[in-house]
Amino acid sequence: MSKIPALVLVVAGGLLVAGGARAAETKTAEQVFKNIQVLKGMPAAQLDPAMDVMAGALGVQCNYCHVVGGKGKPPAMEKDDKQAKRTARKMVTMMQKINHDFFGDEQVVTCATCHNGRPEPRTVPPVERVAKEPEPGKVPAGVTVKSLVDKWTQASGGAAAWKKLKTRVTTGTIEGFGPAPFGMEIVQASPEKVREQLTMPSGTFTQGWDGKSGYRAFNGNPRPLDDVDEIRREAQFAPPLTLSALLSGAKVVADMPLDKGMAHVIEGRQGEAHVKLWFDPATGLLARMTVNVPTPVGDLPSQTDFEDYKTVDGVKLPFTIKTNQGGQTSIARYTDIKHNAKLEDAEFEAPKAPPPPAPQGK
Ligand code: HEC
Ligand code: HEC
Repeated sequence: MSKIPALVLVVAGGLLVAGGARAAETKTAEQVFKNIQVLKGMPAAQLDPAMDVMAGALGVQCNYCHVVGGKGKPPAMEKDDKQAKRTARKMVTMMQKINHDFFGDEQVVTCATCHNGRPEPRTVPPVERVAKEPEPGKVPAGVTVKSLVDKWTQASGGAAAWKKLKTRVTTGTIEGFGPAPFGMEIVQASPEKVREQLTMPSGTFTQGWDGKSGYRAFNGNPRPLDDVDEIRREAQFAPPLTLSALLSGAKVVADMPLDKGMAHVIEGRQGEAHVKLWFDPATGLLARMTVNVPTPVGDLPSQTDFEDYKTVDGVKLPFTIKTNQGGQTSIARYTDIKHNAKLEDAEFEAPKAPPPPAPQGK
């Protein structure tokens, strides 16, 4: 199982090459980034999701506020050249003040409250009808986290079938981030190692998790990943056996409408994030995962749908994975999945950074 949501957004945004070594999770944004003035004190790991929230709330790309550089030019996200970025800072301060003065410091008003997908908020009431939020059903009686996970394990081939498999190589394409789909390859090893690679016109993007630490690299230039929750979820080699163990306080919550039936749903916490696993009422397989990551400018919601399950070497795996992260959508389509090729540990380690280019005189 694998999806590539934030990472492609980030590549599309050029954050990846935005440079600067980014270090351990506990650092604050201002310790890791060059020019943080209003988001001080926020964990550095929340910068990516906070930027996704701002872009999603306004319905714009990173370059609306940032100088992202052209071909061969490094992006300079720390620069304040664009008026929109300077305005966005004032907006953060305004939002914090509204929440402080009127809502007892609860995060009630966010960028999305006013902007709702537009750079310039509306001043007149909307004319179109908004799709209704799905109504949750009841908390099902007699259904437990264990019974749902056991059913998923059985439905997907059984624990014994999963345990026969040690490595997996998945190839396919992902669409939604450019005019043409990107090629992708995902290499995994049991129980939770992964390397994900995208081939884009501008270069090769890789990210990985070796069971202990993660990295992202653009054209072979690695930097440590400080937000590791997402890649750890993607790294789970046999999700029915291990995914729910990543969640603390997992419990069965109210059923939710899914296609024509009602899905049973497990909810738990992974770090700061709220994660929900939705199970197909007919098959018992994982049909959807929703994740809500809190940031100082609003929550970043994401939804991943797992479709088109096929049996490969005795286990059922999804071949179509649809992701919607803060309004940005993508579809990964797998064309080939192979198991048990021999893989070296080095496969999952961060590439060695090339030596810095020699300084050039003008
Ligand atoms: C609506 C405007 C806006 C959008 C859109 C936006 N940003 Fe930002 N970004 C900001 C502001 C404002 C700051 C500075 C925050 C502060 O001063 O505390 C910032 C800071 C940053 C920084 C830190 C730079 C440094 O070293 O100081 C990075 C990296 C970054 N943004 C990446 C992104 C990426 C990637 C995207 C697209 C997903 C994005 N931003 C979209 C407004 C925006
Ligand atoms: C209380 C409502 C409200 C909130 C909350 C809010 N904004 Fe705004 N924002 C506005 C309004 C109204 C304007 C238009 C101002 C104008 O036209 O002069 C605006 C304008 C902007 C602009 C300039 C758009 C342009 O024309 O280029 C940016 C950028 C922006 N907001 C970013 C943000 C970000 C980022 C957040 C969250 C941190 C946010 N806003 C939260 C109301 C809000």
